[in-house]
Amino acid sequence: MSTNYNISVELAAKSKLSEIDFNNLPFGKFFTDHMLEADYVNGEWTNVTIKPYQSISFEPSMVALHYGQAIFEGIKAYKGDNGDAYIFRPDENFKRFNISAERLCMPAVPEEIFMGGMKQLIAMESKWIPAGKKDYSLYIRPFMFATDTIIGVRPSETYKFFILLCPTGPYYANPMKIKVEEKYTRAAPGGVGFSKNAGNYAGSLLAATTAVKNGFDQVLWTDAFEHKWLQEVGTMNVFFIIGNTAVTPSLEDGTILEGVTRKSAITLLTEMGLTVVERKISIDELVEEYKIGNFTEAFGTGTAATVSYIKQLSYGSFDMLFDTEKLKVASELKERFNNIRYGVTADTHNWMVKI
Ligand code: COI
Repeated sequence: MSTNYNISVELAAKSKLSEIDFNNLPFGKFFTDHMLEADYVNGEWTNVTIKPYQSISFEPSMVALHYGQAIFEGIKAYKGDNGDAYIFRPDENFKRFNISAERLCMPAVPEEIFMGGMKQLIAMESKWIPAGKKDYSLYIRPFMFATDTIIGVRPSETYKFFILLCPTGPYYANPMKIKVEEKYTRAAPGGVGFSKNAGNYAGSLLAATTAVKNGFDQVLWTDAFEHKWLQEVGTMNVFFIIGNTAVTPSLEDGTILEGVTRKSAITLLTEMGLTVVERKISIDELVEEYKIGNFTEAFGTGTAATVSYIKQLSYGSFDMLFDTEKLKVASELKERFNNIRYGVTADTHNWMVKI
């Protein structure tokens, strides 16, 4: 069934654009003038509105606050040197959003609202897309949460969907020190690891903050049973360069987020002439390959993280160090991504959606 959603528009009285220093854009701190909001009531989506960015009110009994029925996505829009604006593979995030929704017993958001609403919102806010600086972009945050007001555990019958936009700089500005996590667990088979739900991030905070206290930037998650099979890093998927092969943990047991940047990196790395393998990989294997000089690079991929270099990977007291000035694969991959995103090279994969 296809429905036409009328997106009503309410304009902000005054733009905040002139207050923003585009040379200083911490990740996710500043929001554009407008946002999109929609309601799910009586089994259908309604009240789709683009309106001034503002606070919302709700009752303290709202389900999302108690039981975490909340999901989100992260997408980026870029402005090329010729001034044209593009969104990077939003269709992939749209699909993943509704996969997350299904896992959390939430309704699907229709394409017309998610994609159509996002494009309309970004077109209105195109002056907010940073231009001329690599790693700067407009971060797009669609999210949905449960709004029933009842303290009982069951799927909510009402929801709100929003899209926020923030002009933003790099998430991880510097090469990272990562600790292999051996105590806490992010996800187990049958759980919600593959979905982008709020609780996954809440559950990761203690491990991440403990790692930071110990001088690291993030943790590399391991499996729940043996703490040796590698999964993903804090907010990104992970790749290891072993010889001429790029290895990334496979998705098959449902514990890892299926990153859009991960998927794109697999395509680009293959085009760069590497063999790319998605498989189970253990920390023991990495240590062995490192000792014989075969494991030469590690990096993360993510929408926020883009391609983030890893300068140290520590397993207990064993540190694997990488000279990030000399990374060949990660730096070329990053450049290829940037060239596509900022329109320097042809978008042969049709990843960029024009606004
Ligand atoms: C993204 O890469 O878009 C993410 O969602 C990571 C985020 C939690 C900062």
